[in-house]
Amino acid sequence: MPSILLGAAVDYNYLNSDSTYRETLKSNFSLLVPENDMKFAALEPAQGAFDFASGDALVNFAHSNGMWVRGHNLVWGEHLPDWLTQGKFNHDQVIAILKNHIETVVRHYRGNVISWDVVNEPFNGAHLRDTFWLRTIGPDYIAMAFTWAHEADPNAKLYLNDFGDDEIGPKFNAIYALATSLRQQHVPIDGIGMEMHIGFGAPANPHAVKVNMSRLKSAGLEVEVTELDVQIHNLPGSLQDKLNEQAAIYGEIATACRNAGNCDAFITWGLTDRHTWLTAILGHPDEPLLFDQNYHPKPAYFAVKAALYGSSTATVTATP
Ligand code: G3I
Repeated sequence: MPSILLGAAVDYNYLNSDSTYRETLKSNFSLLVPENDMKFAALEPAQGAFDFASGDALVNFAHSNGMWVRGHNLVWGEHLPDWLTQGKFNHDQVIAILKNHIETVVRHYRGNVISWDVVNEPFNGAHLRDTFWLRTIGPDYIAMAFTWAHEADPNAKLYLNDFGDDEIGPKFNAIYALATSLRQQHVPIDGIGMEMHIGFGAPANPHAVKVNMSRLKSAGLEVEVTELDVQIHNLPGSLQDKLNEQAAIYGEIATACRNAGNCDAFITWGLTDRHTWLTAILGHPDEPLLFDQNYHPKPAYFAVKAALYGSSTATVTATP
């Protein structure tokens, strides 16, 4: 495996319908992350009835093209099916549902998915987020989820994934405290995902990223950049200025990952500016990714390749 995998979030609908999307993906990335196709509602649309069709198609595409797969995600407060959230299940029933979901999904992909976002976005600031899981199970849902995932695939790396943990402050401190506490209790957590959707709040802070990665390393925890995208709409200057600034940000974060010693994946939340979740969220187009609307590599692409691999061409040195 190359020392740092370059990943992209991938949507089955685009993969299935767009040959340029497929070509760009397989030629430039070594890690595939399902953007939506392995979320709870996608995999278990009816209770106990699992639909692995899209997830399997993504895994098959990845493996046919020498790419690794990262699973996203097992437990999240969003993208949940109505049968679950409207089902009026009690505490013990929800535990049983979650256990069955994790065991079924992780066993299904055992050996084919190298890592999982086990618990996604569990924090709101320094406190556990008020989600369906917290309300029905209580805070122990986090330890339970990691334990069940590890039992189902002892070789998969298991992550807690969140946003805002690329800043120094109370949220990172709380995530760090939880992760180290879980470790002390022998709960099998391997690392922390730093999402990094840049452009919503504070500017990118590569110094904070370095500091936080280093703190995790000292605690024996791994880290991955899991959902990076960099909005340019509000950056100053001409389009070329914006693209250059975007490349600088991408390059600095990739350099932080490269130098951290505990960062083994650098993932962008999408592939092309043609298809980004931000269009729906922002209500206007932006250009947050490494490839433009026409699948041409942007300055940010070359900055990332240079930072991660020391050249503009990354090679995948081993296949899954
Ligand atoms: O597939 C249906 C389609 O059939 C339907 O016609 C359409 C109508 O709205 O919805 C489509 O589903 C949407 C799906 O994206 C695929 O495009 C959902 O409504 C929409 O909620 C969903 O949004 C995703 C969001 O997570 C919620 O799951 C985004 O694509 C995805 O980028 C986003 O990803 C999250 C990470 O999982 C966690 N971190 C934050 C990140 C960004 O919000």
